Amino acid sequence: MNENIKKVLLTEKQIAARVKELGAQLTAEYQGKDVIVIALLKGCAWFVADLTRAMDIPLRVEFMVASSYGDGTCTSGKVNVKLDVTNSIEGKHVILVDDIIDSGVTFAAISAMLMERKPASLKTVALCDKVERRVNGMKADYVGFVIPDEFVVGYGLDYAQDYRNLPYIGVLDPKAYA
Ligand code: IMP
Ligand code: MG
Repeated sequence: MNENIKKVLLTEKQIAARVKELGAQLTAEYQGKDVIVIALLKGCAWFVADLTRAMDIPLRVEFMVASSYGDGTCTSGKVNVKLDVTNSIEGKHVILVDDIIDSGVTFAAISAMLMERKPASLKTVALCDKVERRVNGMKADYVGFVIPDEFVVGYGLDYAQDYRNLPYIGVLDPKAYA
């Protein structure tokens, strides 16, 4: 295990099982609908790759890069779109996916922006949810795991761009960012 990981919060097995369940739920809900999955890079890449492969329906995938974080562990409160989707989402059923919902600022800002483009529907999926940290009442429609208020890395989640490739999600030892 990586020496900067204090403890493993979610094992590779637990993540895989939960992602399969989410995929099955989405498969049932979106039968016969014109679906676009929008993934927020970079962190979501690992999750969305597994999630979409667990969805047994035709769908398209788009990526966005939105950042509210610097290299620290706290939100800056502002969301910048650095890369936008490349196709129209008008009339489509959009599923917005992120690795983790924390303050809720990212999901709220991106959801509002996407709604202006008149999708047929918009729902949100987050693999992890730090419910206690919410500042705006934002709720994801689908949540993989509710987790405690600790800084986590792995399975796409980073600290200053490191640790994304860990196959599990672990709590980063504060000494790693002291
Ligand atoms: P929010 O806008 O505060 O909800 O933050 C969402 C984004 O913050 C996520 O997409 C992550 O990039 C980042 N983030 C929040 N908490 C963590 C964490 O514990 N580890 C790594 N990234 C995090
Ligand atoms: Mg992110």
